[in-house]
Amino acid sequence: MKWWQKTVVYELYPKSFQDTTGSGTGDIKGMIKRLGYLKSLGVGAIWLTPVCKSPMVDNGYDIEDYCAIDPSYGTMEDMDLLFAEAKKRNIRIVIDLVFNHTSDQNPWFLESKQSKDNPKADWYIWRDAKEDGSEPTNWRGIFGGSAWTWCEERQQYYLHTFAYQQPDLNWANPDVRKALYDAANFWVNKGAGGFRVDAIPYIKKPEVLKDGEPDGKDGMVSVHDMTVNTKGILDYLHEFKENVTEGHDIFTVGEANGVKASELHEWVGENGVFDMIFEFSHVNLEFKGIETWCKPDPWTIQDLKKALRNSQEATRDNGWYPVFFENHDKPRCTDHYFPEDADKGQCAKLMGTLLYTLRGTPFLYQGQELGYRNVKYDSIQKYNDISSYGQYDLALSEGLSEEEALKAVHRFSRDSARTPMQWNDQENAGFSTGIPWLPVHDDYKTMNVEAEEKDPSSVLVYYQQLAKLRADYAPFTKGDFEEILEEDENIFAYRRNTKDQSIFVLLNFSGKEVSYDCSLTENMQYIFGNDQPKTGVLKPYQACIYVKN
Ligand code: GLC
Repeated sequence: MKWWQKTVVYELYPKSFQDTTGSGTGDIKGMIKRLGYLKSLGVGAIWLTPVCKSPMVDNGYDIEDYCAIDPSYGTMEDMDLLFAEAKKRNIRIVIDLVFNHTSDQNPWFLESKQSKDNPKADWYIWRDAKEDGSEPTNWRGIFGGSAWTWCEERQQYYLHTFAYQQPDLNWANPDVRKALYDAANFWVNKGAGGFRVDAIPYIKKPEVLKDGEPDGKDGMVSVHDMTVNTKGILDYLHEFKENVTEGHDIFTVGEANGVKASELHEWVGENGVFDMIFEFSHVNLEFKGIETWCKPDPWTIQDLKKALRNSQEATRDNGWYPVFFENHDKPRCTDHYFPEDADKGQCAKLMGTLLYTLRGTPFLYQGQELGYRNVKYDSIQKYNDISSYGQYDLALSEGLSEEEALKAVHRFSRDSARTPMQWNDQENAGFSTGIPWLPVHDDYKTMNVEAEEKDPSSVLVYYQQLAKLRADYAPFTKGDFEEILEEDENIFAYRRNTKDQSIFVLLNFSGKEVSYDCSLTENMQYIFGNDQPKTGVLKPYQACIYVKN
């Protein structure tokens, strides 16, 4: 097995992790200060969301310079020190490659927009207006509004899958691809342990860009549906692999929403382009698409089981599965999967058990290990996330009242995942001595690292114990996945078998006590869980792990 299959990856949101200067924004020195904490979680790799120079319109996913550190985070010397200090603790640093687009302040774009015949004229996707002067197509960007923005200077529109400050690069141009591979190799040479590759299914555009059937009252169609996984995309990615990652002991995980299980073998594994891809069906149970963001679909525990089962099956022979339930774009899992009145501590531990026992590499998201909850600011203005604004407006245009739209923001805003890290019960939770860029969650007095480290029954200690078990028992990493009780409406149960040992995991996703066939745990030893085990019965949200030698 490769090192990255055996370890735990921690996704760190730099802006909110630890501020050491009083600026209100986290920084690289803060990461170095907290490496010991990450080590105590059994983490072997830290995926940093982008730390490159950026105007921060989308918190770093709008890159101005791929080979410079944003001054708000520190310097390249700080970054080199982070690599070195992490290495001492056997922790690798994973870089986020944002290659579908750059910032509109990137010198490449500043040059490209000047004229139709400058040397970088076709580094981005430029099109003339329709005859009536309107946008070249009726595509809606992922953050809402048209995916096209008019450029006065050049007298043309440019395409942006996300915000207008994030113009899409033209991957059809070999010079663009070379410049991106050079940027990635800059980080390989720094010693990166891997790459998370952002928004990758959008890099290739269709030959002809044309209007699509409108899917909303705004007369537009989601750009996702018009450009995702365009035929030929894999040729580019094979080229990326050959030029960047091949021959290095690093891993790649692509953010590849929309790759079907039947196509997976082309994307991951030996003949694929990445080691893993993030697939979103289990975190998007409530979404049919971006346009229905404000009208969530109801879902059942069976639906969740099905999504998890499918991804386990799909990666049995193809590549490897990156297990995740939270990231910087998603709400907190304690609120996402469980009702308001549930015991959220138990739910957090249940999700931790699932995260560490499914077959694959656990990707733990900052704050998840403390049992974080969503934030519910009382007005849209208090939110920072650019996509929450667009989606709030979309909700209003779909006929929701302001109150209903705000409720949807409470449920789905990406800011819930971005509130500052809660280190202690002091001012600003020990995150910063200045004014935090995003308000600290008001539960920090009790939910913080210092308090949870001292409490043997805390979510944090539970996560530390899980990491230790994962390292101690081979089936956690090496075992295959065999689902039991497939038809059960409340319990998700599975075995992870190796030749010599297996673990058996029982998870009650419902808020009621449920029973199961006692013989299932016969001759097995209970090793861990979030409550006292009782054969044949699971309390609400109870998680149990048994072992059989
Ligand atoms: C990805 C990132 C998200 C970002 C978007 C545009 O989905 O995870 O945070 O806004 O790409 O780069």
